Amino acid sequence: MLSLLPLLLCIFSSTIRAAQGPSPRPSVVHVGALLTFDSTIGRVAKVAIDAAREDVNSDPAVLAGTRLDIEMRDTNCSGFLGMAEDWLSSLLDSKGPLSSYTMSTMQGIITLRQHTEESERKSDLISRWGNLTRKESGNFRLNSYGFYAYDTVWMLAKAIDSFFDDGGIISFSNDSRLQDSTAGTLHLDAMNIFNGGDLLLDKVRSTHFDGSTGVFQFDSDGNLIHPAYDIINVIGTGSRTIGYWSNYSGLSVVPPETLYTKPLNVSPSRDQLYSVIWPGETTIRPRGWVFPNNGKELKIGYPLRVGYTEFVSKSPTTDTAKGYCIDVFTAAVNLLPYAVPFKLIPFGDGHDNPNYTALVNMVATQEFDAAVGDIAIVTSRTKIVDFTQPYLSSGLVILAPIRRRKSNAWAFLQPFTLEMWCVIGILFIMIGTVVWTLEHRLNDEFRGPPRKQLITIFWFSFSTLFFAHRESTVSTLGRSVLLIWLFVVLIIQSSYTASLTSILTVQKLSTTVEGIESLRTGNGFIGFQVGSFAENYMVEELRIPRSRLKALSPEEYAGALELGSDNGGVTAIVDELGYVEIFLSKNCQFSIVGPEFTKNGWGFVFQRDSPLAVDMSTAILTLSENGDLQRIHDKWFTRAACFSESEEIDSERLSLSSFWGLFLICGISCFLALVIYLTGVIYQYIHLPSTHQQDPSSHRMPKLGRSLREFFSFLNDKEEDVQKRYSQRGHKPDGDVSVNLET
Ligand code: GLY
Repeated sequence: MLSLLPLLLCIFSSTIRAAQGPSPRPSVVHVGALLTFDSTIGRVAKVAIDAAREDVNSDPAVLAGTRLDIEMRDTNCSGFLGMAEDWLSSLLDSKGPLSSYTMSTMQGIITLRQHTEESERKSDLISRWGNLTRKESGNFRLNSYGFYAYDTVWMLAKAIDSFFDDGGIISFSNDSRLQDSTAGTLHLDAMNIFNGGDLLLDKVRSTHFDGSTGVFQFDSDGNLIHPAYDIINVIGTGSRTIGYWSNYSGLSVVPPETLYTKPLNVSPSRDQLYSVIWPGETTIRPRGWVFPNNGKELKIGYPLRVGYTEFVSKSPTTDTAKGYCIDVFTAAVNLLPYAVPFKLIPFGDGHDNPNYTALVNMVATQEFDAAVGDIAIVTSRTKIVDFTQPYLSSGLVILAPIRRRKSNAWAFLQPFTLEMWCVIGILFIMIGTVVWTLEHRLNDEFRGPPRKQLITIFWFSFSTLFFAHRESTVSTLGRSVLLIWLFVVLIIQSSYTASLTSILTVQKLSTTVEGIESLRTGNGFIGFQVGSFAENYMVEELRIPRSRLKALSPEEYAGALELGSDNGGVTAIVDELGYVEIFLSKNCQFSIVGPEFTKNGWGFVFQRDSPLAVDMSTAILTLSENGDLQRIHDKWFTRAACFSESEEIDSERLSLSSFWGLFLICGISCFLALVIYLTGVIYQYIHLPSTHQQDPSSHRMPKLGRSLREFFSFLNDKEEDVQKRYSQRGHKPDGDVSVNLET
């Protein structure tokens, strides 16, 4: 029944009681008020109610000597005040533009003041509320609540005054409906009802006066008639009116009274305000001065990492957080246009890397205001918290052992198996023999002494390997055989080249894992970093049985991979690229297998709908665009990788070590040929008479006196001349030597 003004009359109805005696005008009327003292609305309302009580009691025109006593009680009945807030909000928001405009622009700068004349009392209240709510943004709203509370007390005093004037008395009686039928502990029968309720309600409805909120009067539905506000731009200690708001005309630069007589929507000044002058004499809207958190520091959790502490860890000396993620966070916070006081709180036992999902949950349950660190942005987490933009991309990859094939002296033999080499050798001889047979009767080049023909067979067939045979083929059959054979040689040659290239340059993986699909369908154990989301991802998304997964700390990675799945280790490890890159920079015997199969990144975590998440995202993008993000990365991760770029190029070059076998054969054959040749020449030199020797019958024996010069002159002699000399002297050196030299 008394719910026309939910803010105070509900309270009134439950606590008003006669102070003393049966006198129709008691000396004191006690009114009770329930407030949540420890709330911004409660604090403002308390000041307003106190001020209104003082003003009512000091005004002899009201209540005629009866003192109004308001007893305020603290309550956590936030539902009630929440209802009051909703009611006032809906009143303010009933014209949409006010809502959106005030919420976005009036933080601490613009205040809303009821559209009435100035009074000392109002200025006093505004300044007292200002002190109370200095740290709050949007205090225009609180001022409104305060003025409503102030006017409501006045309205109540006037209604009670009128109630007494009409012979109303404050009396209570039992109500037969308030019986405790359950004989329980509620003691409903101890409660009374106020007998003059109907009369008082009439008085409330008919009360109207010029209050701090303008003309305070209700319509038949209990709604305020034409509530209106001045919108004031507070500049330093002064202020200026930049417009008005009323529930009839909305925002306007024209006073509402002049619009009440006009139809709606015809005013060109509707939904307009004069521009706001912000501190610094600027009309550009600032973002604020401090993040509104009641002046409290934000509690920000960070993972107390044990491995890969470059990302985030606690400094043992200063006990503060440090690492790449902390530096990125600090740099981003410094870019915000307002101060964000925060405290970093470690999360984890310091023995193992903490569970990151648990950390995110603590933000969702508001144990932390935010979380900072190498926290992956994954779907299950985005459902309960807000992430910033990623500051590092780090999807999941597979880490597996590799074996580098060592280059050796006989690498040139490796392209073909032994059988293959044998077959190729037999084929060469066979082709030489076949072509010789086919050409022998027709082609002079395949005729001659048997020894020469044998040599021709070998020379011809092996020179086809390089397409360098000199003997021409004249028979059709011989040409056909040769054509097919040359094609076979071409294939053999190119296969050899390709195979040798791949052997010498490609590193072979010593694992059967080729990618996430073969890892999923295999049977081996799979490692993951303890605390990482990779575990849940593999179980829930990839449907890998949990029994195949092994939690490992980064220090255990190398050992587990080297042992292999059959010996108590793992086949491969699934981890985020950010960690794996660091691991690989120190462990060259492992490698990433296949592509990055998820496209995650790391971001900072905030509670749902936190405005900080948006502003921090913008700051991270700025850091990325101006290069600071990369600079911070380089500061923490400058460790040399296994191979420097030039070393990698070197490893792809075919080195001498791969070919010394070939070169040795070549060298030995040259040496042997020289030895054989020189043996023959020396033999000739010894047995051929010298051109300077007078005794033609004497053999050329080594004499110490014979000069080296004479020997070199002999070397320079033509073989034909040497043979002629033999014939002239009737000497014939050993034919073998002669033949050897000719061939
Ligand atoms: N970077 C570990 C995780 O987010 O689970």
